[in-house]
Amino acid sequence: MPITPYCLIIDADQAHARRLADFCEDRGWHVTLHPLDGAITTGPTGVADDELGETLDARDWDCAFIDTRSGTEFMRLCGSTLLDDCELFAMTDTDSGELAESCIRAGFSHYFCKPFTPENLGLLLDDIREEVEAAAPAESAEKIETLDQFGLIRGSSRPMRKLFRLLRKVGPTDTTALVIGESGTGKELVAETLHAVSDRSDGPYLTLNCSALAENLIESELFGHEKGSFSGAHKQHQGFFERANGGTLFLDEITEMQPELQAKLLRTLESGEVRRVGAVEPLQVDVRVIAATNRDPMVAVADGQLREDLYYRLAHIAIHVPPLRRRGPDIAGLAQFFLMQLNERHDTTLWLNDSAIALIEGYDWPGNVRQLRHAIERAYIVSEGEIGAEAFHLEDDAADTNLGAADIGIPLGMPLAEVEKRIILANLEHADGNKKATAEALGISLKTLYNKLKDYES
Ligand SMILES: Nc1ncnc2c1ncn2[C@@H]1O[C@H](COP(=O)(O)OP(=O)(O)OP(=O)(O)O)[C@@H](O)[C@H]1O
Ligand SMILES: [Mg+2]
Repeated sequence: MPITPYCLIIDADQAHARRLADFCEDRGWHVTLHPLDGAITTGPTGVADDELGETLDARDWDCAFIDTRSGTEFMRLCGSTLLDDCELFAMTDTDSGELAESCIRAGFSHYFCKPFTPENLGLLLDDIREEVEAAAPAESAEKIETLDQFGLIRGSSRPMRKLFRLLRKVGPTDTTALVIGESGTGKELVAETLHAVSDRSDGPYLTLNCSALAENLIESELFGHEKGSFSGAHKQHQGFFERANGGTLFLDEITEMQPELQAKLLRTLESGEVRRVGAVEPLQVDVRVIAATNRDPMVAVADGQLREDLYYRLAHIAIHVPPLRRRGPDIAGLAQFFLMQLNERHDTTLWLNDSAIALIEGYDWPGNVRQLRHAIERAYIVSEGEIGAEAFHLEDDAADTNLGAADIGIPLGMPLAEVEKRIILANLEHADGNKKATAEALGISLKTLYNKLKDYES
């Protein structure tokens, strides 16, 4: 489903507002009209008119037409804060260069004297709509009715639309980006989506989870090594950077990388060169790096876990993925979506009843989208036909989300192979036997997981 672009019209002239709204709607826009009675009072904290404040906050507007009669202070407020990422049109009754200039200074990109000229405006609106819709690739025409989709990410709430807007801008560029968000919010999906919408989408997309590798291995995994460069280096090895050449490298949990290596990474980001461990000559690589962390990066910098210089280099573009509890209508929407996936996969028709929806909407989801997905999967398994609130055990799920090494009985001194086995089996159990989810959670391929499970059987 293509993303619907949203337009807000704040106009004192109702007849003009209606004509403009019809014109926008005919071009595929979803329009909200807000009447205007004289100037709007504004204060230091924002708009005094509650109703208007609500309208402005109701969603992330893609474009807005605002009557200059709302007052210059309001225009400034719209331009600077409220309608941050929105295409702003100022509409006036009399042509005035001075007014036009103050609107442009207030962040308005367009200015016209009423009435609007259909030819000019039509082209502009189509351009903006195309930009908004470029978000949704063709294959996204799936059977989801309520949620918008950008790449692999679903959501229609205001914070998600804002995220989509940023991704749309950042995606096609080559800049490094830092994806920040709580565990389970979809950081990996964001990274994959950035790759998918970039010019590099035909190139490789590789993921390295910095916490999943032993410290001494990360360097050779990242940069590769020459044969004989250390004991165990039996043959030359291409690192992630070399293998991701022409594509994207996703460095997950970047704060888990040791500081010396972070310095080397920074040098690579700046020079575009990598040097295999033990090599004399550097190699030129063309790789876009996207890093992620579920920690507050400024705190990680203060704790010495993230080098400040690397942080600034990565956070050139900082992409904040909002926690699920801030996504309002998306919570139930995603629940329905995950259920629909299960129904399709198993050819069933289970549904969520009102008590289940109320529970889902009222919960705060500390484990975010991942927790929601698991909760739906579990409720699905224990239900037939109707899924009610009693099918959920959310607090247990949340506690599970925070299970750690101690909970699965890993004492100091346990052989590494046994530790690995216990972690793998505990994750598998946590994922209700879902191997794909387990491999995903552990950052290993499905094939590796199958091989290991086969070993455990014998
Ligand atoms: N907006 C979304 N739409 C659909 N699925 C989502 C969305 N966000 C997350 N998911 C799903 O939720 C799960 C968790 O997402 P993901 O692995 O990207 O989170 P993460 O932020 O990388 O978590 P962690 O910090 O634990 O690594 C995945 O199964 C993913 O497909
Ligand atoms: Mg992740």
